Amino acid sequence: MPPTKRNWIVLFRQLIAKKETRFKMTKSRWQSEYPQIDNPYFSTIAFEEFLAARGGFLDGKEIFDIGTGIGANLYYFAAKNPGVRFLGGDYNADKIAEAKDVAKARGDNGLAFETVDWFDISDGYRGRFDGIINVHTLCCFKRIEPAIEALCALEPRWIAFNSLFYEGPLDVMIHIRDHDNPAIGDDNPDGDFNIFSLPLVRELFTKHGYKLHSEPFHPPQALPQPNNGARGTFTAQTEWHERTQFSGPVHLPWHFLFASR
Ligand SMILES: C[S@@+](CC[C@H](N)C(=O)[O-])C[C@H]1O[C@@H](n2cnc3c(N)ncnc32)[C@H](O)[C@@H]1O
Repeated sequence: MPPTKRNWIVLFRQLIAKKETRFKMTKSRWQSEYPQIDNPYFSTIAFEEFLAARGGFLDGKEIFDIGTGIGANLYYFAAKNPGVRFLGGDYNADKIAEAKDVAKARGDNGLAFETVDWFDISDGYRGRFDGIINVHTLCCFKRIEPAIEALCALEPRWIAFNSLFYEGPLDVMIHIRDHDNPAIGDDNPDGDFNIFSLPLVRELFTKHGYKLHSEPFHPPQALPQPNNGARGTFTAQTEWHERTQFSGPVHLPWHFLFASR
């Protein structure tokens, strides 16, 4: 069937949005986050399925993505769940300005962005969100207790994490010093891959009346190791899983967590 006039307009707008995104990619300081917008990671796709299977996406409700960066994950989430509103928050005001520019250029509905610090969230947000998500952000923190306390204080129905966790009484602090990218200094948390104790997370959520479900994430296909040993996720077969994830010499135990009450 030939496209209708309205379909032509939608196709034209999508083309312009992709051109805008490509234009921005050449300029942005956050190039690594851009490709995800048009080509979501396996983990984004699997995380959306994980949340959907637990009733996370209810029409008419609002979900808060804290540590959203330029909001790259939200395009996939919004496309799969058009009845849900999404607010992306990040403490980096430059990233939020860029997130707003990209969202405006793409004309996607249901997305809004605000500058928000995880540890200084306005009381006005309390009771507003059905769910709170965060992707690859918790692993930049040194302690998980204040991070979980701050989200529970907002009283959402559920809270979900995509981050690094270990089934044992250990938190492990890992900072990658990348000689190809000296801009990420030793005090820059963006170089951190900190892993947190699942029993501790369970205890914290139980204290706040939430029940925790967790599961490990493995990509659906093998990922090759970068040739030069540079930073970047790859998989190798181990006795734990045929696609155990690593970056350089570091094992990355990615997990999805869903705490609900
Ligand atoms: C590794 S990036 C992940 C970005 C995005 N979630 C993604 O998956 O593409 C971590 C993000 O957390 C943000 N962040 C770190 N500490 C934060 C805080 N205290 N409050 C809000 N955002 C924070 C950083 O600015 C950064 O954008």
